[in-house]
Parts: sequence; structure tokens; C-alpha cells
Amino acid sequence: MNKEKLIEKILKLKKQRKAIILAHNYQPPEIQDIADLRGDSLELSLKASKTDAEIIVFCGVFFMAETAKIVSPKKKVLLPVKEVPCEMADMITPEDVIALKNKYPSAPIVTYVNSYAEIKALSDICCTSANAVKVVGTLKEKTVIMLPDMNLAQYTQRFYPDKKIIYHEGFCPFHHFLTPEEVIKAKEKHPSAIFIAHPECRPEVIDLADYVASTSGMLRLAKELPYKEFIIGTEVGLLYPLSKENPDKKFYHPSPEKMVCPSMKKISLENVLNALENLEFEIDLPEEIIKNAYSAVKKMLEIV
Ligand code: 13P
Ligand code: SF4
Repeated sequence: MNKEKLIEKILKLKKQRKAIILAHNYQPPEIQDIADLRGDSLELSLKASKTDAEIIVFCGVFFMAETAKIVSPKKKVLLPVKEVPCEMADMITPEDVIALKNKYPSAPIVTYVNSYAEIKALSDICCTSANAVKVVGTLKEKTVIMLPDMNLAQYTQRFYPDKKIIYHEGFCPFHHFLTPEEVIKAKEKHPSAIFIAHPECRPEVIDLADYVASTSGMLRLAKELPYKEFIIGTEVGLLYPLSKENPDKKFYHPSPEKMVCPSMKKISLENVLNALENLEFEIDLPEEIIKNAYSAVKKMLEIV
């Protein structure tokens, strides 16, 4: 089937099924183009929960579709490919969380939304890359546990010298392995460009950044800042919406071959059509997990 025909079928079936298609900022261009909403994972789940759509087709990774289910338990949530893992979310187990809880019983557990539902369910409060600093700032405890991303935790620590942030040593390989040398090289090549880093990058890279922002934050900064050239320290997929929304600006990448998350490139138009035709692959979570994970997400939402 050619691309036009595929898109036509997807749009027709989407209407019939009362479905909404969500795409994370890193998804392939053709998926972003057919989506009803594009954004970061939490933003998408929250917006979808406020629509009257009966089905959510989430083009992203598994934990994102789980988050959509946590905030919209009555809706059917579909992930168009069955196995779409997140390498960072895979780095922590419930046993790791329980061990940390036992070691630091009075420290609240702040869990990055880039984690599986069973980890969120064991946490006190969630955070995103956009609001981690604010969330930790509202906690009265001096010792705080952050999971699963050590880089987000170390970035947050910079704002609170009087707190001790204990972290699990997880990381996103597609951000963590960006090196300061690669950033310096890009800066030398594009001396007028400003460098924006994602907080999932390692501390030595954060040190070189003019701004640190989540994917949605980067999209906002690119629009609002008066600069014309940007070096973007996040997964390469973000360059597509950045360039589309700012045709008069230039976006460069310091490591375009390395910073590609394969899970984010798994979903095709054929998969989206199949999801709508066969209602696959449905996210099914135990009620108890939904209840406890929602409680951690809700606490974050009350703050930000
Ligand atoms: P945000 O879109 O929340 O910045 O997250 C980045 C990311 O790594 C998603 O997988
Ligand atoms: Fe996970 Fe990193 Fe891929 Fe995001 S980019 S889904 S954090 S592995």
C-alpha cells in the first residue's frame, strides 16, 4: 500500500474508532505528521485524558503508553508495536527500589516518568525532566532518592546544595554517551550557535550548556530565544519538529549517529493502521498498580 493510501485509511479508521493518535517528539517524521498531538510523554498523556477519545494510540515507548493508561484508566490505550522498551527504564527493578527504601526509610522517592508503572507505584512522587528541580524543591526532607536517571538526579542536585540526593545509577545511553569533546567540536564548527542540553546528559556536558531543557522546553526555547542557530543535545528525532516549527533557524546535532534511540524509531504507519484495525497492542495494568502509580503522578501534578 502506498503512503497516501495508508494515511487515508488511518485517518478514516481513527474517526470511526473515536481514537486519538499521540506521537512523542522523537518519533519518525511520518508518525509526527499524522498525529493529533505531539509532545513529551506526560504532556501527551494529560492532554489525551482531557479529550473524549475512547482509544489512545500512543506512538512512543512502552512506559509512555503505560502513563497514558494510568491517567486515563477508562480509555483503551494501544501501543502499535508490542515490544518497545526504554533502555533507561529497564535499568531499575522493583527490588532495587525496595532496597533503597529499606536503606533510607525516611527519604521520599522521586521517580522520573521515564520508568515503568510498577516503579512509579512504589514511589512517593513523580517528576519529568521539565519539573524535577521544582518537585524536589517542594520536599521538606534533606535526603531525597531520585530514580532511575543518575544524570537528572545530579543535575537537580546542583540547585540544592543543602540536600543530599541519593540516586540509582541508571541512565539513557543515547544521552549519557554524548561527550564534552563532541559538543566542543560542534561549538567550534558553529561559533554563533547556542547549546541546549537535555538533563539526561552527563554532568560534563551540562557544564557546557547555555540552557538545559526537556524536549518540550527545547521547542519552546527555540521559538522564544532571539538566536538563529542552536546545537541540540538530545535524541536526533527532535530536530524534525524544531526545524518544522522554526524554518528561519538552524539546528545542528553534535552526535547524530550515536544519539538515535532505536525504540523511538520502531513504529511505522503500517503498525498504526494495524493498531486501529485490530485494537493492538492493548496496555493492561493491574488496578492496584494504576492506583498507586496515579497517586505518585497526581502528587507531582498538584505541585507543578
Ligand atoms: P522528555 O520528552 O520528557 O524531555 O523526555 C525525553 C526522553 O528521553 C523521552 O524518552
Ligand atoms: Fe528511554 Fe532514552 Fe530512548 Fe528516551 S531516548 S525512550 S529515555 S532509551
